[in-house]
Amino acid sequence: MTAKLLDGKAFAARIRAQVAVHVGRIKADFGLTPGLAVVLVGEDPASQVYVRNKGQQTAEVGMNSFEHKLPADTSEADLLAVIDALNADPAVHGILVQLPLPAHLNSDMVINRIDPAKDVDGFHISNVGLLGTGQKSMVPCTPLGCLMMLRDHHGNLAGLNAVVVGRSNIVGKPMAQLLLGDSCTVTIAHSRTKELAEVCRRADILVAAVGRAEMITGDFVRPGATVIDVGINRVERDGKMRLVGDVHFASAAEVAGAITPVPGGVGPMTIACLLANTVTATCRANGLPEPSDLTV
Ligand code: GUN
Repeated sequence: MTAKLLDGKAFAARIRAQVAVHVGRIKADFGLTPGLAVVLVGEDPASQVYVRNKGQQTAEVGMNSFEHKLPADTSEADLLAVIDALNADPAVHGILVQLPLPAHLNSDMVINRIDPAKDVDGFHISNVGLLGTGQKSMVPCTPLGCLMMLRDHHGNLAGLNAVVVGRSNIVGKPMAQLLLGDSCTVTIAHSRTKELAEVCRRADILVAAVGRAEMITGDFVRPGATVIDVGINRVERDGKMRLVGDVHFASAAEVAGAITPVPGGVGPMTIACLLANTVTATCRANGLPEPSDLTV
C-alpha cells in the first residue's frame, strides 16, 4: 500500500476532547449543561447500536443524554407529540430522530417538525436551504466529519476537483455543498452516471457515498488522489460477516495519495460531529460565543 491512511478514529477522539473542553467551559461559566435527545422508533439492530454509542459518548464528554425509545407501531401523532415536547424543553439543545423510520411514518414531516435550531443532524428543510445558500446552518454530521478530515489533510481545498459519488440527502448532496463552499470544482455522480470510472479519475478528492460494497476500485482513482469512503456495508467473506466500504480498499490504496479505511475512517467522525453540533446549538440558543473549531 502506498497511500497515507487517514485515521478517523484518532481524529474523532481529538474532536471529542475539544467538545469536552467546551462543555466544561459552558458549565463553569454559564451554569448550562448541553443536552442531546435521541428518538428511536422500533428495533432496527443497527440503529440500536448507533443509539447506544451515541448515549455513551454524549455522557463521556459531559453532556446530558436523553433517550426516547418508542415501539415500532408508534403513530405519527404520538411521535410528533414527543418532538413537540423536546422542542419546548430548555434542557434539550439538540434533537436527533434516528433514521430510517418505520415505513408508516413520513420522515420528511417528522424531521421538519424539529425546531431547526435544535436540528443537530442538519436535515430540517430550513438548514438544508441555509447550507445551500452559504448561510450559517446546522451541518449534517457525516459530511461535516469528511470536510474536517479533508481540511486537516490538504489545508486549503480551493480549486481542487472533487467528485462525490452518491446523491443522498444525508451525505452526497450536503457533502457537495460543503466542498463547493470551500471552492472545490464539484461533480455529483451516482450509480447511473455514464463512464463513472472516467469521471472519478478526474478527482483530486473522491468521496464514495453510494451504498454499494467495494464498487469504487483502484482504476477509478487518479494517482495521488484523496479517497474518502463513507460506505458501511456488511458482507459475507469466507463464512464471516465483515464491514467493507464503498471503496475496494486494497486496489484503491495502491493508487491514492491518502485514503480512509472502513472501519476506523469516516464512521467515528459522525458521532463526534453530532456532539460538536450539540455544543454549537447550545451556544447559538443562549447567545454564547460559538467555538470556531467545531464547525465550518
Ligand atoms: N441513520 C444513519 N445515519 C444517520 C444520521 O446521521 N442521522 C440520523 N438521524 N439517522 C441516521
